[in-house]
Amino acid sequence: MTTFGLPILYTILLWWFSTGVILYLDGLDRRTFIWSMSGSTVLLGVSLWGLTLSSGDTSAWGAFQAFACGLAIWGWQLVSFYMGYITGPRKVASDANITRRRRFSQAVAACLYHELTVCGSAAVLIVLTWDASNKMGLWTFLLLWGMHQSAKFNIFLGVPNLGEALLPQHLRYLQSFMTKKPMNPLFPVSVTVSTVITLLLAQKAIATDATAFDAAGYTILATLMVLAIAEHWFLVTPIDLNGLWTFGVKTESTDTPTNREITMGDQPSNIVSLCTRQAGGEAGLLPASVAHRSVETQDPQNVTRFKPMTTSESDMGSPTIKYQQYFECAIARLKAENRYRVFADLERDAAAFPVALWRPDDEAEPREVTIWCSNDYLGMGGKAEVVGAAVRAAQRHGAGAGGTRNISGTHHPIVELEAELADLHGKEAALAFTSGWISNLASISTIAGLLPKCLILTDALNHNSMIEGIRRSGCEKQLWRHNDVAHLEELLIAAGQDRAKLIVFESLYSMDGDIAPVAEIARLAKKYNAMTYVDEVHAVGMYGSRGGGICEREGIMDQIDVIEGTLAKGFGTLGGYITASSIIIDAVRSYAPQFIFTTTLPPMVAASACAAVRHLKASSEERTRHQYMAALTKHALRAAGLPILENSSHIVPLMVCDASLCKAASDMLLKRHAIYIQPINYPTVEIGTERLRITPTPRHNEAHLVELVEALVDVWKTLGLPFNEAEIIPLRINKAAEPARCTFSDLKQAAE
Ligand SMILES: Cc1ncc(COP(=O)(O)O)c(C=O)c1O
Repeated sequence: MTTFGLPILYTILLWWFSTGVILYLDGLDRRTFIWSMSGSTVLLGVSLWGLTLSSGDTSAWGAFQAFACGLAIWGWQLVSFYMGYITGPRKVASDANITRRRRFSQAVAACLYHELTVCGSAAVLIVLTWDASNKMGLWTFLLLWGMHQSAKFNIFLGVPNLGEALLPQHLRYLQSFMTKKPMNPLFPVSVTVSTVITLLLAQKAIATDATAFDAAGYTILATLMVLAIAEHWFLVTPIDLNGLWTFGVKTESTDTPTNREITMGDQPSNIVSLCTRQAGGEAGLLPASVAHRSVETQDPQNVTRFKPMTTSESDMGSPTIKYQQYFECAIARLKAENRYRVFADLERDAAAFPVALWRPDDEAEPREVTIWCSNDYLGMGGKAEVVGAAVRAAQRHGAGAGGTRNISGTHHPIVELEAELADLHGKEAALAFTSGWISNLASISTIAGLLPKCLILTDALNHNSMIEGIRRSGCEKQLWRHNDVAHLEELLIAAGQDRAKLIVFESLYSMDGDIAPVAEIARLAKKYNAMTYVDEVHAVGMYGSRGGGICEREGIMDQIDVIEGTLAKGFGTLGGYITASSIIIDAVRSYAPQFIFTTTLPPMVAASACAAVRHLKASSEERTRHQYMAALTKHALRAAGLPILENSSHIVPLMVCDASLCKAASDMLLKRHAIYIQPINYPTVEIGTERLRITPTPRHNEAHLVELVEALVDVWKTLGLPFNEAEIIPLRINKAAEPARCTFSDLKQAAE
């Protein structure tokens, strides 16, 4: 035990401790960087001093000391890297469409500052220990460096499971440089080399002529290598890190329009433990729901500045578990990050839409505002025929459904609605759910769960409801880079022809407004024998000659196995649905708890949705006007030099690229200009891509648009936001019912 056991134990404890400290510091906000850097720099000084002192000591104790110093110096490197001290100014995510070579060179550029400091430190250590008999500190540093380099290469070249949940928050943008694909050949090479080094070290440790110094020193180095190799395996082994890491290392995005996976940094363990410590409890006591909320960074100043609990508040729980503080902590965190959401109290007016009444908290009288961010994309929610259907159904059948579908909830309006939806998508059957979110959760989890060892291939930007459905299925999943069919094909090939595969994607992504290559995905699915599940939530009612969505427009509805949609956006009411073959619908109906154990949509909702679907099947007027207004809005914003994100859909993302400015712009639009556009911040979109998401409807007109441009120009100038070069691109309206009219001169005049 003394010769080998003690060094092994010592190494494990020290490694474990230093990794924990680094993770803890990493989770802290960038603004805490001064004190974390000062602390770790003092540690650096002490370690260098300790290294000098121990460099001549060849006792076992000398080996321990030098190892601890080497590890601490390495720790300083990592803390500096994570705190951004060494990472340098390059914080730009890689463009998804660049070549692998450029991706790699960008990754190297992003890490270069760090590599240079590592080289600098190595040089210092070499100088300090040049003539020394004890070089354990130097070897510790060099071994870790070697392992680190090989891990980086493996990541950049591509490994099947990135273990990205372990990546620190501050390096999230680095993920964009990485490649996920079947095992890269470097991985077995680097692990084999490391294993050989470990064996050589172990052999030296147990050599018969080994001194106490050799035995202790080589044992700790060999143990360090084993630990580093184990960490290496995290890159390739599909381990459920949630299960492993009690503090909830990995989560997926939450919130309505969120499409993305969010990783470890989103809910740093230290926030959880900080809250936990403040609340006086144990980490494990944190409610799972809190641990699984996504969070980006935190500001400990804000967190620690919490209002102390009053006695009556703390009375809510036992003296050791102060329940209130968990919630206070969670909310303070959101506020500190400018992600706290404030709801606008709006009173929609069916006839006047998009004009509505807004009731500000601090004003007695309501104010008239124009809504520019509604997902009632076609204004169907206020259409007389849709409202009339709801009123008639409510009068005839009452307000509620009376139960689940099994217990008297299968009412005639919902049966009619399902028939209408099946017909809309050219499928045998449909099934209605209480929301689009639930329909994705229920259907994806049930369909994939019923297939043997199903592999789910999911677009990296899929909506939260799909991510939750995938998670609930318990199936293995692989992410393919957003809309990258070449990557999808790689994964399909790797999965093999005989494995059950479900490809899950959206036809139109709501935040960037980009459209998926649906026909190409369907072709690949057929080629590699995979099932397809498409979410057409942001397209149904609005695309295709009868409103069947992008797949209808592309003429491929029959090539998709399951089409999912919502009744709450293009159709202006509430509920979600899937359409597919009768047997798939029967299976979901029979197995999905989210369908079986909840009350059905009320008849009035089903009837009004049915009226909207019927109307939009027959009429293209709303679609044409909608596309015209979307094109006109983009045209006007471009002409005013406002930085919109280009896409070919009806969504107009206006980029602000800063969370607090985005919120400020939204507030100013509402208060100063009576225009309501909700800010879109993280986790709905990536940090640094915050935006105002503008959704023109057929009910907006040119006068509304002039007001909007004028207001936006004022807000942009007031907040000092950057303008683009004004661009006048001719309006091209396909098959427009009304002639295209360039309103730029009016708009510009108004804006000035
Ligand atoms: C892509 C996508 N799928 C599903 C949903 C959920 O739909 P619903 O609002 O009907 O619950 C949303 C909501 O915005 C979405 O963006």
